[in-house]
Amino acid sequence: MCGIIGYVGHRPAVPILLEGLKRLEYRGYDSAGIAFIQNKELHIIKTEGKISKLEEKVFSQDVLHAEIGIGHTRWATHGEPITKNAHPHKDRDGKIALVHNGIIENYKKLKDELLSDGYEFVSDTDTEVLVHLISREYKKTKDPLAAILRCLEAVEGAYAIGVIFLDRPNEIWACRHSSPLVVGLGVGENFVASDVPAFLPYTKDVIFLEDGEVAKIGKDVVEVYNSNKEKVDKDVVSIPWDITLAQKGGYKHFMIKEIMEQPRVIHDATAGRIDFNKMKVVLPQLDEYPLPDKIQIVACGTSYHAGFWGKYLIERLSRIPVEVDIASEFRYKDPIIHKNDWVFVISQSGETADTLAGLRLAKKRGAKVIGVCNVVGSSVARESTTVLYTQAGPEISVASTKAMCSQMVVLLLIAIYLAQRKDFSQREFFDQLLFSLKEVPQILRKELPNIRDRAKELAIKYSFARSFFFLGRGLFYPLALEGALKLKEISYIHAEGYAAGEMKHGPIALIDQNFPSFVIAPKDDLLQKIVANIKEIQARQGPVICLTNKDIPVPSTDRWEIPYLNSIMTSFFVLSATQLFAYEMADYLGKDVDQPRNLAKSVTVE
Ligand code: M6R
Repeated sequence: MCGIIGYVGHRPAVPILLEGLKRLEYRGYDSAGIAFIQNKELHIIKTEGKISKLEEKVFSQDVLHAEIGIGHTRWATHGEPITKNAHPHKDRDGKIALVHNGIIENYKKLKDELLSDGYEFVSDTDTEVLVHLISREYKKTKDPLAAILRCLEAVEGAYAIGVIFLDRPNEIWACRHSSPLVVGLGVGENFVASDVPAFLPYTKDVIFLEDGEVAKIGKDVVEVYNSNKEKVDKDVVSIPWDITLAQKGGYKHFMIKEIMEQPRVIHDATAGRIDFNKMKVVLPQLDEYPLPDKIQIVACGTSYHAGFWGKYLIERLSRIPVEVDIASEFRYKDPIIHKNDWVFVISQSGETADTLAGLRLAKKRGAKVIGVCNVVGSSVARESTTVLYTQAGPEISVASTKAMCSQMVVLLLIAIYLAQRKDFSQREFFDQLLFSLKEVPQILRKELPNIRDRAKELAIKYSFARSFFFLGRGLFYPLALEGALKLKEISYIHAEGYAAGEMKHGPIALIDQNFPSFVIAPKDDLLQKIVANIKEIQARQGPVICLTNKDIPVPSTDRWEIPYLNSIMTSFFVLSATQLFAYEMADYLGKDVDQPRNLAKSVTVE
C-alpha cells in the first residue's frame, strides 16, 4: 500500500527520489519522506501530506550533492498519517535509515523485546522495529546481509524493505516478502522501487525480486542473495512500456486519460489472440488443459466486477458453470475446488494481498490457476500456472478504468475460446461477435467525446444527490455494481449497485424525489423487464437517468443514448458512460480525482 524508491548512481539522488515518489503516489499519499547520504552524514526529511509538501520542505535545503538515497510515500496502517510516523525511520545512532511497505504482524512482541533491551521508539509504526532489529545485528557483525536476514527470521508479515547504512554510502539493501519490489538496471546507476513507473524514464531493464531474496544495489553492480546467503542468478526482463504511457499527456487527470485510452486498450487486449482467417480465438496457454467442469473466478473491487461480468458471458457462451468470489471471502471459505477446475485470478496490479492468498490456496488444492493480470512480472503473473496479460499499460489513477475494460476483453475472448473448443456449431454467431469486437475500438474512439459531454451535463444536474442507485440486469448488473463503486470512490456520493429486479425486495423504500437512479437499459432480451422496474421507481417520484440506445422506448427523467452493436459489445459503451459520469461528477465537485481519500491503488495488505 506504500511506495518505495531507492537510487544510487552518478546523478543527484534527491530529485530522482522525489520524481519517483510522484510516480508512486497512487500507492499511498498520506505522508512521505526521503533519506540520503551527503557529506558523510545521513539526512532524513519527511512530512505529513503529499509529495508536493515534501518537495517544498526538501528544496528549501541544500540537497543536491547526495548520490544515494531512499524514499517512501505512505498509506497508513499502524499509526496516524503524521510526520513522526512517516518513513524513512532511523536507528538510535542515526546511522541506518529504512523504508517499508507492508505490515509486520508480530511487531508488538518484537517491540516489547526491544523496549526491554533499552531501545526507544519515536513513532507508532510497526516499521520501526525493523530498523532497530537490523541495527542490533549490524553492530555485532558489520555484515548487512547477515543483519537483514537475522531480522527477517524474527519477523512475521508482509514487507518490502529498502535500507541504507551511513558507513556503506554506495549500497542500497532491499528485500521482499509478499509485497512487490523491483530493481531497475541503468548504466552507472541502479534503482529499486515498488513499481516500474518510478524509474521508467531511466531504464526499462528490471529484475523482479522473489519472496525471501535480498538485493545489494550498488551503482555498477546488483547482487541478489537467497536466505542461505547464496548468490542467485536473476533474469533481466525488459518492460515493454513507454514513459508517455505513465504521463498525463495533456489531460487534467490520469483517470480521464485512462478512460480515453480504452479504444486502444480494447485493440491491444485482442492483439495476437484472434485468427481472423479461421475466425477463432487463439489462447495457446490454455490449449494443453482439458476443458474444466467448473470455473472459479477470484478477484477484488473493480476486477471482481469484471469477473462477475465474465461469469455471465462464459456461462452464456460456453455453458460451463462459473463461480465468482471476492478474494477476501474466498480465502477463508474453505472453497470446493477440484483438480480439473480452472481458477481465473483477476488483478490489475497483480499484487493485491487477498487475491494472491486466493491464488495460493487454489494452487495448493491442485487447480490450474490462470492469472488475468496487467502488470508484467507481478506476483499474480509469476505465481499463476499460466498468465494472460491484459496489456492495458500502466494504470496510475487509483480508480481503475482501462484495466477493467481490458479484463472484460480478455474474459470475452476466454468465453469465446471455451465455446469454440466445446462446440464449433454456432459458427456464424461467433464470427459476428469477433467482427463486432474488431469494430468496437473505432466506434468507441469516435463516440467517447459525445459520451463525455452528456456525462458532464448529467453530473452537473444531479450533483445535488447524496445517494444513487445503479441498476441493471443480466450482463449490465455487474456494470451497475461497477458504476456505483466508481461514483462512490471518487465523488464520495453514496451509491449502491443492484440487480434492477431486486429493488422491490427492499431498496425501493429509499426512493423519493431526491434519490436518483442510474438505470442501464440498452436493447437486450431483458429490456421489458427493466422498463417495468423503471416505472416502479417513477411511481414513487424517483428521478431516473436511463442509459439506453437510439429508438428504444424507455421511460426516464433524463435519457442518455449510446451506440448499439449487440448487447455484449454495448457493455464497453456502458462501462465508459458510467466511468465518465463518475469522473465528471468528482471533477465538478472539486474532488481529488486521481487520489481519492482513504484509498490506495494497490492493496498489498490484508
Ligand atoms: O490490482 P487489483 O485489480 O487486484 O485491485 C483490486 C481492487 O483493489 C481495485 O480494483 C479497486 O477496487 C479500485 N480502486 C477500484 O477502482
